Amino acid sequence: MSGLVVVGTQWGDEGKGKIIDLLAERADVVARYQGGHNAGHTIVLGGERFVVHLVPSGIFHPGKVCVIGNGVVVDPAALLEEIQLLRERGIAVEGRLFVSNRAHLILPYHKAIDKESEKLRGIRRIGTTGRGIGPAYVDKMARVGIQVGDLLDADLFREKLQANLLEMNYLMEHRYEIPRFDLEEVFETYQGHGKAIAPYVADTALLLHRALKEGKRVLFEGAQGTLLDVDFGTYPYVTSSSACAGGACTCTGVSPLAMTGVLGVAKAYTTRVGSGPFPTEMQDALGELFRERGGEYGATTGRPRRCGWFDAVAARYAARINGLTGLALTKLDVLDTSETVRVCVAYRLRGETIREFVGSAHDLEQCEPVYEDLPGWKDSTRGMETFDRLPSAAQRFVRRLETLVGVPVQLISTGAKRDEVIEIADPLKAAR
Ligand code: IMP
Repeated sequence: MSGLVVVGTQWGDEGKGKIIDLLAERADVVARYQGGHNAGHTIVLGGERFVVHLVPSGIFHPGKVCVIGNGVVVDPAALLEEIQLLRERGIAVEGRLFVSNRAHLILPYHKAIDKESEKLRGIRRIGTTGRGIGPAYVDKMARVGIQVGDLLDADLFREKLQANLLEMNYLMEHRYEIPRFDLEEVFETYQGHGKAIAPYVADTALLLHRALKEGKRVLFEGAQGTLLDVDFGTYPYVTSSSACAGGACTCTGVSPLAMTGVLGVAKAYTTRVGSGPFPTEMQDALGELFRERGGEYGATTGRPRRCGWFDAVAARYAARINGLTGLALTKLDVLDTSETVRVCVAYRLRGETIREFVGSAHDLEQCEPVYEDLPGWKDSTRGMETFDRLPSAAQRFVRRLETLVGVPVQLISTGAKRDEVIEIADPLKAAR
């Protein structure tokens, strides 16, 4: 059995899509385990840019099986649109894309609640992607969610939808003061979606179990990142799912015993979209420079990302929470022009020096970063494929991060293309 979890160590957008795409060649199955179409994984193939939101990034390798696990919330219209776009670009998904029958559906009222409740929150808004993700997970936990499998049974789907709309429409009318949803309209639309996604619906927990039993290699693809995890992120400024490595088990139905390694993906600096504390954020020209050099605009919403220096306190926390066995460092080339590169090694909070990540978002907001300055390399690392060819200051930077985080760097991404990478060790080689 061999399962490698690929997890974001920051606030998402670490470049997991590229890393998954790279590793998928050596794996048999790629399983996305949480989140929804709030995520956006960008892949550059033959000069062409592809963005996938729900379908695992492994889809770009012919013959690889891709799974959307039970922990994902699925907007069927978004999934069908993605399948169509892939088809138009000559990427066949039939017979190799499977969606869990247990995954929960995003319904039109989830999207409405997401948008309206953000408006009502005012300055306390989370800055969600507005895709209905949070409200869909609320219904799942409240035990009124509708699952993908329910779509295949018209009577059952209608019964559940009708019951939910009774309450939801009351909310629309009296709390948000927006139009009600029409049962027949939603029913018909979703029945159409149901027919179209039926060929992909499967008991994916069983599929994964069988694949692992046959000795196949499975990659578990996390969306967002550790600091957006609903339990371990900067709550309440988080997404509503288990983005950490533990989620790979509950969100796919695979035993922890099947996991042989956890690869953490980290950018050589840090970004965040949406609201919430961000100790190393740079609200100056340098932050702007990182945004431009790194193309730091949301793959899903196009929003400019907030940018800052690498936070080793947060990364060490991610190493602990996820049990990282390796690190993939991405976008090293964005730092190529910096005279000095800074790494946050501790925080100052109420006169004390803190070396462990802070659990409360309120306290994290008050934390001042303590930096260690390293000399920059002022040379291009773009597209480099061997560690020895990196400028010595860049090598020192990587080695320093490794020491601070306490996890070996196995991959360094030096550009957007598939082959722009330095491989120090194979993350798929079982770490335990
Ligand atoms: P939601 O997931 O749409 O509910 O948004 C909750 C928070 O997570 C917001 O701050 C979003 O900007 C952030 N978020 C959600 N998905 C992503 C992602 O894929 N990358 C980065 N941030 C994300």
